[in-house]
Amino acid sequence: MNILVIGGGGREHALCWAIAASPLTNKLYCAPGNAGIAQVAECVAIGAMDFDRIVAFAREKKIDFVVIGPDDPIAGGLADRLEAEGIKAFGPSKAAAELEWSKGFTKDLCAAEDIPTARYRRFGDAESAKDYAADHPLPIVVKADGLALGKGVIIASTRAEASAAIDAMFAGSFGSAGREVVIEEFLEGEEVSYFVLSDGETILPLTSAQDHKRVGDGDTGPNTGGMGAYSPARALTPELERDMLERIVRPTIRAMAQRGRPYKGVLFAGLMLTMDGPKLIEYNARFGDPECQVLMTRLKSDIVPLLLAVADGALKTVDVRWHDHVALSVVMAAKGYPEAPQKGTEIRGLDAAAKLDGIEIFHAGTGRRSDGALIANGGRVLNITATGRTVAEAQARAYRAVDLIDWPGGFCRRDIGWRALVQDRKT
Ligand code: AMP
Ligand code: GLY
Repeated sequence: MNILVIGGGGREHALCWAIAASPLTNKLYCAPGNAGIAQVAECVAIGAMDFDRIVAFAREKKIDFVVIGPDDPIAGGLADRLEAEGIKAFGPSKAAAELEWSKGFTKDLCAAEDIPTARYRRFGDAESAKDYAADHPLPIVVKADGLALGKGVIIASTRAEASAAIDAMFAGSFGSAGREVVIEEFLEGEEVSYFVLSDGETILPLTSAQDHKRVGDGDTGPNTGGMGAYSPARALTPELERDMLERIVRPTIRAMAQRGRPYKGVLFAGLMLTMDGPKLIEYNARFGDPECQVLMTRLKSDIVPLLLAVADGALKTVDVRWHDHVALSVVMAAKGYPEAPQKGTEIRGLDAAAKLDGIEIFHAGTGRRSDGALIANGGRVLNITATGRTVAEAQARAYRAVDLIDWPGGFCRRDIGWRALVQDRKT
């Protein structure tokens, strides 16, 4: 098959890496891709939101299957457009992806279906939101309704902070994402990510991962898109996994079908493991980044038939196998990330790092200078991904590789996987 992947981050590099290994793949393209993706796919200079050119390219190259990576083209309706053009695609419709692009939509669905989640209210103006926050227990969670690069959530520990966050959101600090605001109860517990494939009816549970959202060691500093991940998440026991699937994911997929918006794609559930059991924090309508990188390095099955089964409504006919090993990925970011990442700095030493046992390096934001040198071209730049028998082994391998990379313009957290290591020490 000729396959086109949409996107150009570490998630898409991992997807391209897995798709390129499939015997079903004839020619693989990625739009727009990046310098690392260029090692496994032919990159084409078409932006992920340029739907007209994506369709024209798919026709010209006789693309059999398009795999959409990021949230923006999904929320913008690329899957719907491709379907209308008769081009097979992996990725939910815009209506189904409302689970990600409107937090208020998801909260209302949870309320209607009795799906465990934080108590909440939706607001369309700052005054009523501030009134509500005035006697809400602290901390207060204030969220922009729409897509905001994982940054539209403020956990306010004082009322003054909550008011300031509400004002900032309605004043447009997250663009149109903040036209509506959700205020919710703060959930206490350990956070895990879980992924399922759904063809609208059948679900195929994949596996769990744990992200590290704060920029600094020990989970300190501002939120980011994710500074590293490992899989499977130690805290999600098989009992909690079953419970979460029955009480959160299955009712969601069922409700979406009943509402005439069948969910076809990968559904990423952000969960809090609270004293009262797993609760939904949010849904995403795509693979996580960097969670996808650890999932792909653990996946034993060929990914292409799985993605095709989603598009074809045939998930009942496939199963999924995983390697026994764990995987752990360290994000290397450009200095200044998340506020003001410095672009254009040169990266050396990747070849030596990539040669280490059990290491895959995925590129998230890289480019080539005119002299061919590899340079940083984004906030999150490299994902140093290691496999191992234990989290400790994978972590040690990942940091050995990190230390071989000569990039004075970059930094990373040094503690990815720490929650699992703390639990390992206890048991
Ligand atoms: P979201 O964009 O909804 O995933 O929120 C970003 C991050 O904020 C989550 O990954 C959590 O760490 C945190 N968060 C969001 N909602 C809550 C909540 N109700 N209670 C505690 N933490 C939350
Ligand atoms: N790593 C979190 C996300 O992809 O949303």
